[in-house]
Amino acid sequence: MLRKFLILALLAITTSALNLPGVPVEFTEDDAVISAISDEIANKYADEFMKYMETGIESASMKQISTQLGRSYKKEIFTTSPNELSSINQFVACTTCRAVANVVARTFRSSEGELNGPNAEADTKKVLLILCDKLRIQTEEVCSGLFDLYWDIVHHIVMNTGGDARSMCGMLPISFCQIESKDYNWSVEVDATKGPMTAPKSSVPKKTDKDLTVVQITDIHYDPDYKVDSLADCEEPLCCRVTPASGISDEAKAGYWSDYRGCDSPLYMVEDAFDNVKKNHPKIDYIYQTGDIVPHNVWSTTKESNKAMLTEINDLISKKFPDVPVYSIVGNHEPHPTNVFGHENVPSEMSVSWLYEHLWNIWKRWLPEEAKETVLKGGYYTVSPQPGLRVIALNNNDCYLFNFWVFYDGKGTSQPQLDWLHKTLLTAEKAGEKVHILAHIPSGSSDCWSVWAREYNRIIERFSDTISAIFNGHTHKDEMILHYSENGHPMAISWNGGSLTSYSDKNPNYRSYEVEPATYQVVDHSTYIFNLTEANEHGDHRAPVWFKEYQFTDFTNDLSPAGIDALFEKMSENPEVLRKYWQYKVTSADPKIQKGCDKKCMLSTMCSLVTSEYGENKRCKELKAKLSDSLDNEKPTEAPTTTSAPETTKAPGGDGAASLTASITSIVALLYVIKQILL
Ligand SMILES: *[C@@H]1O[C@H](CO)[C@@H](O)[C@H](O)[C@H]1NC(C)=O
Ligand SMILES: *[C@@H]1O[C@H](CO)[C@@H](O)[C@H](O)[C@H]1NC(C)=O
Repeated sequence: MLRKFLILALLAITTSALNLPGVPVEFTEDDAVISAISDEIANKYADEFMKYMETGIESASMKQISTQLGRSYKKEIFTTSPNELSSINQFVACTTCRAVANVVARTFRSSEGELNGPNAEADTKKVLLILCDKLRIQTEEVCSGLFDLYWDIVHHIVMNTGGDARSMCGMLPISFCQIESKDYNWSVEVDATKGPMTAPKSSVPKKTDKDLTVVQITDIHYDPDYKVDSLADCEEPLCCRVTPASGISDEAKAGYWSDYRGCDSPLYMVEDAFDNVKKNHPKIDYIYQTGDIVPHNVWSTTKESNKAMLTEINDLISKKFPDVPVYSIVGNHEPHPTNVFGHENVPSEMSVSWLYEHLWNIWKRWLPEEAKETVLKGGYYTVSPQPGLRVIALNNNDCYLFNFWVFYDGKGTSQPQLDWLHKTLLTAEKAGEKVHILAHIPSGSSDCWSVWAREYNRIIERFSDTISAIFNGHTHKDEMILHYSENGHPMAISWNGGSLTSYSDKNPNYRSYEVEPATYQVVDHSTYIFNLTEANEHGDHRAPVWFKEYQFTDFTNDLSPAGIDALFEKMSENPEVLRKYWQYKVTSADPKIQKGCDKKCMLSTMCSLVTSEYGENKRCKELKAKLSDSLDNEKPTEAPTTTSAPETTKAPGGDGAASLTASITSIVALLYVIKQILL
């Protein structure tokens, strides 16, 4: 309650300090009101910016708004995933995005014709770089790099689609920034021979010594440019690569085995991890590599370097594990530019067929010839590694909202693969097979399109008997999601393997799963980590000490969906159990452990366990209410130290940094506006 009040008070102070006409002094928490205020400030800023463009003089009012939008909340906005931001910062993020859109609209309105001429790109870039600076979106190098990489694709999308400017800012997963876009609502035709679920999925096979071992390695984010002792707390989205001429303090230096700050994986750390997988698991049946081999330098990727890294890591896996079949999927960092997967029907210079061809070349040693067609078509495939088991390897980056082609043609981009998934599951069901689905992005992620997630869940419900397990990556969190049927029955589990990269504030990790060989259900899994603080204290004198952090049966022996739901119920009643889960979720990384998990963090940890479609939060609300009571009733002595300091971790999911998504969104918003003007 106090929190809410503080947020509203802050909102009031921010806006009243801006002296905006028509802005109420008192607020309700109504989204519409907040949205309108956000618009007001965005317009006001646009006015001031126009004057600045004409005169070169920055008014006091512009300075004030820039400061408030840009600097006050900088760290949190630019390092935290938008849906985890506090209300005030969501407000600022949405307003910033709209301000950019407004500014550009007017810039081009007042200088007619410019855009039709040869200077369109240069002029747009100029405006964007000024905004990038004034609103402190990112460093000039990063903004400029992003602009150059995305201009062609975004320009094409803008010129050929039917959306509007505000719908682009609506891409931010912030409720009051979102607007409804009815053109983008489609559904898959789901086989109707089986009705809705009438009971939870509750079968529990026993652990035996015949169980298969599946190792999941995900989000490797190998950085060939990693440099020991370089700057680890830089401004850019990826650090530990450059040593400034002026020198750096000891605390700011990149560690030897990677770094908790915004840094990816040096090659020798990746090799060391593979060696430890080999050592710890003498008998591995399969390896699932669930995407994102490429590092977070999203402003300076090239096709050639992405391809080279993919080759290098795949060759390394195959060299270290010559007898193990490896099933890989494609992450959002694999294409160039990052995130954008142009499908078959986009102009060839913008398609990612170069990537799919490359993936086929490096994956084919583990795949049957039949997989070639779909890999080349869309980076996905199916394979039956042994009779009774089918792996369906999706490229679900077509649910990712920063894959801008989703906005070009939502249905055309996202539906065909789900249709294929449905067809493949139907065939598997008829053949009596059990299925493992591999998909990089968890469906409940705030940046996974909720229409896609809704349809995906409809398919999962229809085939809940056939689907034995789902494996995700992307979030860099060692976590899981329970999927519920339309009428609330627990139906499937998505396991998330965390990440090998330490990006950010996490210890490198991998997972091994124990899979029962008749149902192919996961009956246990273990997470292996090393303590990065400790490893870096020894530097290059000693290899990291990998150890088993925990195994899931420490929580429960019943790994069926029903059993997991019961575990969550227990977590909501006994916060200590959830706290344990949270500690493992963040791989016991020192910066996270020191900060602790306060009430807000605990509630969101609870909710993310049961959210498989963004915005669908029935079970989340039930568990949250229970947990909230349990937390309030805890004896003070039992509560660990917590702080309410804002999270400052670079958001690992997606682009790695919310700043990038914000700045990319701004570019797109800007181009949408341009289109409106031209039409
Ligand atoms: C989208 O379609 C689904 C059914 O397919 C419907 O339930 C939902 O209300 C629609 N949403 C909008 C915003 O029209
Ligand atoms: C990691 O190692 C450091 C240094 O040895 C130690 O202080 C810290 O407690 C360890 N972290 C955990 C979670 O055990």
